[in-house]
Amino acid sequence: MAQNRKKLIAGNWKLHMSVHQASVLVHRLDEHTGAYKDVETVICPTFLALNPLHKEIDRKKFKLGAQNLYFKDEGAYTGEVSAFLLKDLVDYGIVGHSERRKHFDETDKDVAKKAAAAVRNEITPIVCIGEKQSQRQDGFTKTVVHDQLVAGLNLVTDRDIETMVVAYEPLWAIGSGDIAKPEDIEEVLKLIRKTIRQLYGDKAADNVRLLYGGSVTPEFVQDYLNIAEIDGFLVGGASLNWQQFSEIIKLTHEFESKSGK
Ligand code: PGA
Repeated sequence: MAQNRKKLIAGNWKLHMSVHQASVLVHRLDEHTGAYKDVETVICPTFLALNPLHKEIDRKKFKLGAQNLYFKDEGAYTGEVSAFLLKDLVDYGIVGHSERRKHFDETDKDVAKKAAAAVRNEITPIVCIGEKQSQRQDGFTKTVVHDQLVAGLNLVTDRDIETMVVAYEPLWAIGSGDIAKPEDIEEVLKLIRKTIRQLYGDKAADNVRLLYGGSVTPEFVQDYLNIAEIDGFLVGGASLNWQQFSEIIKLTHEFESKSGK
């Protein structure tokens, strides 16, 4: 049931923030963020910053996530970082982000293997799916999202999905300042949960957490939190700004407190 799903706010710092800058930002966030029982906050810095931040962060306030992970545990794979190596550092791992799909040719099959590798290594995958502008214009949003979801979850079980996270991120709203309407988001999140219910059963559907991502700023958080199916946000640009990111976390906490959770 919805009330059991703890809100999740994940900050994807992408290819920003040196190790030093990441440390400064975490300290700023720490000063301005409470240890809220009703909101889980995840920081996803570059791989380089994971180890130092692992030692610095207050675990009551923040968890760490990887922005990507490789599905083979180890071997001759120059330049890759595997879920197996990340498991001591992170609780979460983003897989299938649209920038990985676009710039690094990641396919749905890769995403499925990465999600499975994360689960196998006790990392909670945040599986990203979403349509392009042209696909939305042509009326294919639901088909694209459905197909990416089914393919991305292909190698995990219904039990795994109970603890997993799916992020709906329409490509046209990412980093663009183009704002998705709550009703558009709600329609897609409903489809995602319904599809999971049909394929994996009630327990998986009731427990999987669904995030929205795409130009999320404090300004829209209130409206988005009113979307029945939403369990949090995957935040890019605004997570690089401690004022905005801590405001998003605070607003989510206040929303949860008001709803009596
Ligand atoms: P944005 O990025 O908030 O800057 O649009 C979101 C994301 O890419 O996850």
